[in-house]
Amino acid sequence: MRFWVITIFPEIVYASMISVLRKAIDRGLIDVKAINPRDFTHDRHRTVDDEPYGGGSGMVMKVEPIVSAINYVKERDPETRVILLTPRGKVFNQNIAKEYSKLPSLTFICGRYEGIDDRVSYFVDDEVSIGDFVLSGGEYAFLVIFDAVARLIPGVVGDADSIAEESFSDGLLEYPQYTRPDYFMGYGVPEVLRSGNHERIRRWRRFMRLKITFERRPDLLKNAKLTEEDRLFLEAVIRGRGYVY
Ligand code: ADE
Repeated sequence: MRFWVITIFPEIVYASMISVLRKAIDRGLIDVKAINPRDFTHDRHRTVDDEPYGGGSGMVMKVEPIVSAINYVKERDPETRVILLTPRGKVFNQNIAKEYSKLPSLTFICGRYEGIDDRVSYFVDDEVSIGDFVLSGGEYAFLVIFDAVARLIPGVVGDADSIAEESFSDGLLEYPQYTRPDYFMGYGVPEVLRSGNHERIRRWRRFMRLKITFERRPDLLKNAKLTEEDRLFLEAVIRGRGYVY
């Protein structure tokens, strides 16, 4: 899968390509290219920002270098989906990550300074935010989305099961995990996990996913895919009966 990043700070993008993502790049599963809008300016100072019309503080990123950079990418990769990173966009989540991971190519536009000329929006396919807060630059939003999308591409993460079972995969948070030792400062590992009984372990894990989601993020339950067994577990959680696995 191809990732293009339109940014005046390519070094933020390239410096972050380590670990799992680095390996995926080296194995040819993903390809990341940063494109600098400064390379599409024509003045001596390579100006990418200017004062806002109407006055006000700060500078605004100019429309021409960014649209020239988009055109440069589209000429080389016509099927790319162009995404503007902005706090005004729809909020990124695991479903969007899944949808993006099936596409052949994505192009992200990272804004800097106080804003970006609004006319850039006529040249993009989506506007996406990573949450209700303001970052100093879209580069950090890109890194978050890139990691979430890239790890869904087959082969990037070693164990496909770990993706199938993790938080949000079916709209629920993850069950608790433990490793040795059995006891740490008085805190034990739940007995069921040491029982070797796979069916009991499966039920306990499912029960815990429902309990933790109910306690911490009840909003997620509205869209979760629940089975008949899940409904029984959930009823037990709601009534505070606990342990029914
Ligand atoms: N740029 C600045 N803040 C952002 C956010 N929350 N999401 C995406 N891009 C941004």
